Amino acid sequence: MLDVKLNEQLTRTGPGTPGGDFMRRYWHPIALSSEVTPGSKPKQVRILSEDLVLFRDEGGRPGLVGMHCSHRLTSLAYGRVEDGGIRCPFHGWLYDVEGHCLQQPAEPEGSTFKDRVKHPAYPCQELGGLIFTYMGPSEQQPLLPRYECLVRENGTRKADYYQINSNYVQNFEGGYDTPHGAYLHSDNWSIAKHQLASWPKPRVEFEETDFGIAQRGLKASPGDDGPTLGMVVQYLFLPSGMVRVDGNLGERDVRRFHSWFVPIDDAHCYRFLCSFAPFGPNGEVYDWPREDAFTPPGPQNDYFRDYDRYDTISGIPGRTQGSSVKGFMAQDSMVNESQGPIVDRSKETLGEGDAVIMAMRLQMLKGIADVQQGHDPKHIIRDPTRNTMIRWRSEAALRFATRVPSPAVPHS
Ligand code: FES
Ligand SMILES: [Fe+2]
Repeated sequence: MLDVKLNEQLTRTGPGTPGGDFMRRYWHPIALSSEVTPGSKPKQVRILSEDLVLFRDEGGRPGLVGMHCSHRLTSLAYGRVEDGGIRCPFHGWLYDVEGHCLQQPAEPEGSTFKDRVKHPAYPCQELGGLIFTYMGPSEQQPLLPRYECLVRENGTRKADYYQINSNYVQNFEGGYDTPHGAYLHSDNWSIAKHQLASWPKPRVEFEETDFGIAQRGLKASPGDDGPTLGMVVQYLFLPSGMVRVDGNLGERDVRRFHSWFVPIDDAHCYRFLCSFAPFGPNGEVYDWPREDAFTPPGPQNDYFRDYDRYDTISGIPGRTQGSSVKGFMAQDSMVNESQGPIVDRSKETLGEGDAVIMAMRLQMLKGIADVQQGHDPKHIIRDPTRNTMIRWRSEAALRFATRVPSPAVPHS
């Protein structure tokens, strides 16, 4: 649990808040590259409680600018992208991707007024099919980390995102909580519940790293002849990202699923995903699960719950029931939206299985304190020679090998 004051620090990310200052020291994904093309309509986005407009100029450069025109505050979401920038539809002021005002057609001939206008704008970079932005002080701008899922080439990747209607921290915690996988995400619940008493406890082992936390947890799944055991390996990197390394322990090269939890405002967030699957030994291309147009799960569709059709603890279809992605995400959204817009962590009752959740909160709070005291928080990269591809290995979990519950654990 956390007291109310620390919970506020952890969860509030608007301009001028300690948590917002912390989040503004990192790059965040804000859209798919494919969402804005040269000349296409701009896209209105809200990130860290700031209203912004994303567009792409004719040169292919993405631009992220304040939503309200500096002149008389009309929304640039209705602007026309042309002539090297975005033009406000009200009086035609034109802004480039850096917020310079290029034209003010109604001002007198020869006026230099436009040169004294600086519209709010944040730098953008693209990697792995995602557009990232940095919304902090320009003199503190770090490099965009070259995560494996974003830059690796001997395989295929898939990028996507969806909105969740609750605070980003509780969704981040939900994603990094390995014990819930055996319950919330278990298929064949009617079998599983009779085996629970014999299941090994979902032990979680973790350690602090220079980017965040590495953890692995034992996960039981129901089987006809008793539980099948597997490992879940996940890495956390500050401020609010994680990678799940898929596949079985001992495999050399397996899929990685990278998530970023990005605040829209204090009661809503995006989960951005970029996943990477290496080619098989004979060049096989991984067949990414195909979903119909991704319908955001939510209370309006009861998160697809149907206890008659779906044998899961939630009644939401799971991995083996025709919805490998959508159902899985709906299960997560259901538990993390129903906690309330912002979890009141002073009312929690944490058990031993929540140790890693406490550890991640403490790392985030330490990062918030670091920024308030004028220091860099963890996982800030400034040296280009150190910004090489960050690879996540399933084998890295073997660092914990001496503490694995059983050396003869079979893997699902
Ligand atoms: S309000 Fe945008 S140009 Fe006047
Ligand atoms: Fe989950």
